[in-house]
Formats: sequence, structure tokens, C-alpha cells
Amino acid sequence: MKSRYEAAKNVFIDSIEIDDYIELDSSVTAYKQLQHSIEKPLKMILLFGKPGTGKSILLNRISEKLKHQKEIYYFDTPSVTEKEFFYKLFKVLTKQDMPRNTEVNFSALVNFCKNLRGKREIIILLDEAQMYGPQMMERIRLLSDSRSVKFVVSLHKTEDEDLIAKEHFQSRIWEVIELKNAAQADLASYIHKKLLKKNLFEIANSIKEKDMKMIHKFTKGNYRECNKLLFTIFEICEYYDENEPTKINYTHLPQRIIEMAALKLGYIHV
Ligand SMILES: Nc1ncnc2c1ncn2[C@@H]1O[C@H](COP(=O)(O)OP(=O)(O)OP(=O)(O)O)[C@@H](O)[C@H]1O
Ligand SMILES: [Mg+2]
Repeated sequence: MKSRYEAAKNVFIDSIEIDDYIELDSSVTAYKQLQHSIEKPLKMILLFGKPGTGKSILLNRISEKLKHQKEIYYFDTPSVTEKEFFYKLFKVLTKQDMPRNTEVNFSALVNFCKNLRGKREIIILLDEAQMYGPQMMERIRLLSDSRSVKFVVSLHKTEDEDLIAKEHFQSRIWEVIELKNAAQADLASYIHKKLLKKNLFEIANSIKEKDMKMIHKFTKGNYRECNKLLFTIFEICEYYDENEPTKINYTHLPQRIIEMAALKLGYIHV
């Protein structure tokens, strides 16, 4: 027989699928902020935060929600070459494929955008923008000057990229939205809602307040780390359920299992 923990484990596979989106206090605030910024006459908006704080899923959510009202496009991983990127952009802007073997004439593209001003307003959500080089960013900025294309630039913040984020971007009076790791209450609500969405009521109830505290301590409230930890916890539960069921308690998740998972992931050491 399949263990009930298998389904619980799969709930925590990292995903930015729109159906997996969950409304949390922090995500609702960030969503509203982003939506509000998109309405303003800004050229660029910077969305930043540490890896795993929910930037990609938020961009997908907003794109899905606004797509019937606005011309909005989500660009996931940066194209390998600049040529490919402008190819993609050309298609979105002109609604036509660019003839093969032709180069994008950048100033012609800028002029094209200038002519769109007042006629169309295109919003482009650029995920993983830390991978675009400075020259690309400069060109993106030039395109946004046309005022017909607005960019939401999403970057992940690491310790040494703080400087880039602060000086380069803020000096241009962009609007900045920062996503942070979750507070304990939001993380607990994330875990419960994810399990309840799959009707795993008993398992959701087996994770108590003090377990949440421990999970929050290990993951520092980072959603991706939380996914990894919960996946590992349920993987261990699944093992016991199948092999040594006396070691498992369906009504209360043993804290020892949380510690074992933390050990396995290197959050703690023996
Ligand atoms: N509001 C939310 N609803 C559902 N899942 C979420 C939410 N926020 C974060 N997550 C989960 O956290 C994981 C990390 O989120 P996401 O991939 O969007 O982070 P990111 O900030 O884009 O990270 P990176 O900088 O590494 O690209 C997602 O795979 C998703 O499972
Ligand atoms: Mg991402």
C-alpha cells in the first residue's frame, strides 16, 4: 500500500505553476504593490529579493491575472544570446516573426516603440534579470524610454549584488519592490494551505505550532528552503510508514523527524 506521506511529499516539489500559487499576507501585499506600480507611469519597476522568496511565482501570477486586461508578457530565463532576446522582443512588439537571417536593427526597434506611444502599452516581466549584461540592461532602458514598453525587472539579491541593486537601479528613480523571507505565521500558513489544497487535513494538523517554529528557524522563512525541508521530512515519514510504522505518529509529527531532515540537508550538524 502507498504511504499517505507520498502525496504530502509531492506537495513540496518546487514549482512556479500558477495553480500552486497561495495567497499569504506577504504575497498579497507584494501583489498589490506590483499591480499598483504597473498602473503608474513608470518606465521600469525593480522586483528583487533573495533566491526562493517567490519572485517568479509572483510574476507568473500577475501575468495570469492581468492578461485579459493588458498586454503583458512573462520572459522566463534570459535568452542565451542578445540576438535571441531581441528576436523574442520583436515578436511581442510587432506581433510578427522576424525573418530569419536578419539582424535586429536596434534603433529601428526603438523608433518602432516610440511610434506605439499612446497606442499600446506593453508590459514585459523580465525574470532572472541578473543574467542580462550591462549593455542589454542599457538597451532595455532605452526601449522603456519610448513609454510604450514598461519593464518589470526581477533580480535576485545576493550579498555582493546589494550594491548593484542599490546604486545602479535606485539612482534612476525606479520603483523598487522587495520580497523577503516569510515570518513564522506566513510560513505556517503556507505549509498548511499547501497541504489543505490537496486535502491532506490530518497531515496538516499533525504539524503543530512548535514544529512550525522549528521549521522557521531552520529555513529562516525562505520558501524554497521550506519546500526542501518539508519534502525531506515527508520522505522520512514515508520510509517509516512503510518500514517501521511504530516510529511514526499520524496525529503529531515527531520533532525528531524534523531534526533528521535538517541534519540531512545540512541545517544542523552532529
Ligand atoms: N505565494 C506563493 N504561493 C505558492 N508557492 C510559493 C509562493 N511563494 C513562494 N512559493 C514557493 O517558493 C518557491 C520559490 O519561489 P520562486 O521560485 O518564485 O522564488 P524566486 O524568488 O523566483 O527565486 P530565484 O531568485 O531563485 O529565482 C516556489 O517554487 C514555490 O514553490
Ligand atoms: Mg525565480
